[in-house]
Amino acid sequence: MHSADPARYDGRMPYRRCGDSGLLLPALSLGLWHNFGHVDDPDEARAILRRAFDLGVTHFDLANNYGPPPGSSEENAGRILAEDFSCHRDELVISTKAGHPMWDGPHGGNGSRKHLLASLDQSLRRLRLDYVDIFYSHCPDKETRLEETMSALATAVHSGRALYVGLSKYPLKRLRRAVKLLAEMGVRCVVYQPPFSILRRWPEEEGIHDWLVEKGIGSAVFSPLAQGMLTGKYSAEIPSGSRAARDEGFLQADEVGDRLETVRALQQLAAEHQLPLHHLALRWVLDHPAVTTAIIGARTVAQLEDSLAAVALPPLDPAIHSLVDEIVPTTRKKKRKG
Ligand SMILES: NC(=O)c1ccc[n+]([C@@H]2O[C@H](COP(=O)([O-])OP(=O)(O)OC[C@H]3O[C@@H](n4cnc5c(N)ncnc54)[C@H](OP(=O)(O)O)[C@@H]3O)[C@@H](O)[C@H]2O)c1
Repeated sequence: MHSADPARYDGRMPYRRCGDSGLLLPALSLGLWHNFGHVDDPDEARAILRRAFDLGVTHFDLANNYGPPPGSSEENAGRILAEDFSCHRDELVISTKAGHPMWDGPHGGNGSRKHLLASLDQSLRRLRLDYVDIFYSHCPDKETRLEETMSALATAVHSGRALYVGLSKYPLKRLRRAVKLLAEMGVRCVVYQPPFSILRRWPEEEGIHDWLVEKGIGSAVFSPLAQGMLTGKYSAEIPSGSRAARDEGFLQADEVGDRLETVRALQQLAAEHQLPLHHLALRWVLDHPAVTTAIIGARTVAQLEDSLAAVALPPLDPAIHSLVDEIVPTTRKKKRKG
């Protein structure tokens, strides 16, 4: 039987090595994509960051365009970091990204040196930091030569603006080339950032996770709760205030509808094993041998605490993994821990 009582979570976060690098990341990290923009409650945002850190979450994941409006998550995080965290800078791993459309004009979002380095400088100003720990190319850009995009990441490290670099959402073939190019420029790609959840298994299916393990590159996976769908909150209706209900929310009502039957089956499986669905979902992600950290989102302190309780759970029984595979089959065989 599994059960994770939030009251029993003692804040002892496991820290996992990011591939074969020296960087250690908490098993669960916090992302600031939603809930930290100017449209959100600043007091709750501050309380979430403070509580997260107190519970061992040392990694905050951002991007230039998080908000809304774009840039406002970094602005708000920058203010809170300056006011509340300045003495903890050396404990924190702050990441940001560039590549998606951010501002108007020809270089407002792409894989060029012009965009990536200008955007990084803007992020540093908004975050009120001298450097970020990880700078990501947020997405591949077929229009820009890969050499140019990688040279911008290498410059970010060589100029001291970033300690490490990472790549997000690159398909395997491009990822392999990018990692090789970076190495030729004297910079190691330490981390890859894909979506990964019970409902979105393509890093397994495409062989990306196996390749990352083979190459000693960490995987910081995002949306492990499938933007909230894997909490089961949408089973009866779309609750007001939820991501799918909000204008600025990225989750679309039709996506929720398409997944309803699968989520209900997973919810039943979780209940049969005395687990809340979101704990099963988080533990499932954390059990994957390629995963260094799962980047969660939280709109309230209560959600954050509830999700963090999952790290206190033991790995899922292999029988539960098999039952998940029956509900959400994958096209590739995967390797699992213990
Ligand atoms: N590299 C990329 O392209 C990329 C793309 C997407 C995300 N990311 C990163 O990944 C991070 C996490 O993404 P995500 O926010 O989609 O992660 P997620 O953990 O899958 O979803 C978080 C959302 O689920 C709901 N939720 C969480 N705990 C809950 C609970 N106990 N009960 C009920 N609802 C709960 C909340 O939404 P409600 O508002 O519905 O309550 C919360 O904001 C982002 O912030 C970002 O840093 C990266």
